[in-house]
Amino acid sequence: MTTVTSSTRTQVAIVGGGPAGLMLSHLLHVAGIESVVLDHRTYDEIATTHRAGILERDSVRLLVDSGASDRVLTDGHEHQGIDLRFGGESHRIDFQKYVGASCWLYPQTEVFIDLHAARTRDAGDLRYGISGAEVHEVGASSTGPRVTYLDPEGARHEVTAELVVGADGSRSICRDLVEPRTQYFREYPFAWFGVLVEAPTSAPELIYTRGEQGFALISQRTADVQRMYFQCDPSENPADWSDDRIWEQLQGRVAGPDGFRLNEGPVIDKSVLPFRSFVQTPMRHGRLLLAGDAAHTVPPTGAKGLNLALADVRVLAEVIERTVSKGEAEALDTYTDRALARVWKAQHFSYWMTTMLHQLPESTPFDERRQLGELATLVASEAGKTYLAEGYTGWPDRG
Ligand code: PHB
Repeated sequence: MTTVTSSTRTQVAIVGGGPAGLMLSHLLHVAGIESVVLDHRTYDEIATTHRAGILERDSVRLLVDSGASDRVLTDGHEHQGIDLRFGGESHRIDFQKYVGASCWLYPQTEVFIDLHAARTRDAGDLRYGISGAEVHEVGASSTGPRVTYLDPEGARHEVTAELVVGADGSRSICRDLVEPRTQYFREYPFAWFGVLVEAPTSAPELIYTRGEQGFALISQRTADVQRMYFQCDPSENPADWSDDRIWEQLQGRVAGPDGFRLNEGPVIDKSVLPFRSFVQTPMRHGRLLLAGDAAHTVPPTGAKGLNLALADVRVLAEVIERTVSKGEAEALDTYTDRALARVWKAQHFSYWMTTMLHQLPESTPFDERRQLGELATLVASEAGKTYLAEGYTGWPDRG
């Protein structure tokens, strides 16, 4: 084994330097707690990986109030509603009217860039592009957990800490250290074909549409670049899809008697996004705590993934502060239940929006009409629209 060339002592070692890990490191810094952030990926890899683009009200508040980002308010766009489109007609859900809240269109890559800038400004210890990270001695009886890894030059390092946080995403190495653990899964028989297109915006707000050929989502990025998705078979290969074929699918899914059409332009990025629901419990084992995708995944309908990770981290920063700074060791015991209460709400919301708007391969004419009946009930009901608006803009955190 290569000898250890450096050993760093910190209070919290954070495995994963995406938005969840960086937000936690930032909140801990504000509370006077030191951390080291480690990630296998490079800064550029994370900053160029396209993810969802909608922030709940409380995610925006967290970014702004903690001093992590002002740009979300200046460069982000407030959206006061969405369009639900089915049977070729649009139905606006007015969030301000029903719950007095908005969400913000501000892509995850921008959240990452802002958080990275905030940690760099505050001299945070961020180590990207590492390999072979291993987490040791996190069990309940451990007094000194450690993370070892190789730096980009192949030299071996060690970080010792009071606590380790696994914010290392859907391919987490940390989650396997939780013993015993229970995992809940749901697979879906479809995926999303995601594109970035160079075209002007087609509508002021996001459009979630259930077309005869399946689901499509019309989202946005900037005045000149739009993000769109359509339901596809998980085995589709993006290389088989020409721009014409992509536009035909998208236009077909939004088409209706109102003559609505999308503004077209060149497709500059295309990929197939998997769909699954996953939860692992507990989210804590001894001195190890999990946050975000390491512990749970939601399907992308409703854009809950990043928001849920930020909600975990909000709770986690608080329980870590109580443990590390105030000696309240029992605070850690509350983490799993507090985080999972919101996780299961978001699991239900994402599942509900997904199944209400997508076509299942085995669906019968009965299923299709029942689905249209559900959508018609929703948009005709103040209670139904309030329910959707509450979930979409995010349930208030009542601690
Ligand atoms: C996105 O803009 O990428 C996006 C927006 C809303 C969703 C999912 C993705 O529900």
